[in-house]
Amino acid sequence: MSELDTPDTSMLDALESDLAAKIDAAADEGALDEVRVAALGKKGAISEKMKTLGKMTPEERQILGPALNGLKARVTDAIAARKSVLKEQALEARLSSETVDVTLPVRPGPSTEGRIHPVSQVIDELTAIFADMGFSIAEGPDIETDETNFTALNFPEGHPAREMHDTFFFPEKEDGGRLLLRTHTSTVQIHMMREQEPPLRVIIPGRTYRCDSDQTHTPMFHQVEGLVIDKGSHIGHLKWILEEFCKAFFEVDEIKMRFRPSFFPFTEPSMEVDIGCSFAGGEVKIGEGDDWLEILGCGMVHPNVLRNCGLDPDVYQGFAWGMGIDRIAMLKYGMPDLRAFFDADLRWIKHYGFRPLDMPTLFGGLSA
Ligand code: DAH
Repeated sequence: MSELDTPDTSMLDALESDLAAKIDAAADEGALDEVRVAALGKKGAISEKMKTLGKMTPEERQILGPALNGLKARVTDAIAARKSVLKEQALEARLSSETVDVTLPVRPGPSTEGRIHPVSQVIDELTAIFADMGFSIAEGPDIETDETNFTALNFPEGHPAREMHDTFFFPEKEDGGRLLLRTHTSTVQIHMMREQEPPLRVIIPGRTYRCDSDQTHTPMFHQVEGLVIDKGSHIGHLKWILEEFCKAFFEVDEIKMRFRPSFFPFTEPSMEVDIGCSFAGGEVKIGEGDDWLEILGCGMVHPNVLRNCGLDPDVYQGFAWGMGIDRIAMLKYGMPDLRAFFDADLRWIKHYGFRPLDMPTLFGGLSA
């Protein structure tokens, strides 16, 4: 028997203890990976030894084969064990270096310095209230046609109500049609009824435009439209919804409301709604008192409007309302001049604006 017939496994023992020391010494995952490549990679020490198995006699292979495989398995395990230790250490180090003291005061920055405009705040508030009643929120385009702003809403051609809207028209097109800036959010009623199958229960906040400017009118202002269409909707539902809304919005337990007969082409019957208030002591108090403030228009959707949207008025009925967002914001938060809303005066927004982290919710309080 030659020397090779009794293979000496002591050099494998030496290799194993050398690798074990290196694995132990590896300070991070990168260093450990270098050890792995040097041992088990394509040209690694163990892989090179594996390659020599083919040239051995069967007797040698019988001894060295299992020895090498055992070595490979032990080294693989040792690397994996070290790796998980290193991973844990790295995580520990990161966690201790990245701790955040949540009790520290917020640094001055957009979240403390910036302010939410009262109009945005009020839109968030009414969204929270109506969402709680099961309404969805929709929007429509600011630029509309004569058809969607007037005709489909049952304003006859040449009707004086068209003139009352002080509309901003775009220049006439070649075909005689003209686009316009919507004068009310009621246009979106038409889009909703044409595009979606009833039942509908939706509110539509958005910008509206009329050629008008004084203390309580600006050329651009905001409205929120409400629309409910179903087979059994009636005025009782409308009154209940508006009452619940007003109580929640003005944050009072009771509110005096008055429904006055009125006229809108797109509703029949039509009503204007006032809320009770008092101006005693130069301060507006909402909900009680002997004065009245008009806050919205509403009514049962006119059968012609339903027909114009492809709905059968003998099957479906519903109600709608439209309310000035800026106006209810002024009432709730005591802002006297609407024009200041759009002046972009930093002092005004600092005084009347809301903190961005105080989101209005029904459970946390709308304005608290
Ligand atoms: N569109 C009306 C306006 O701008 C407000 C309005 C009145 C909307 C009655 C409605 C409604 O939906 O039913 O003056």
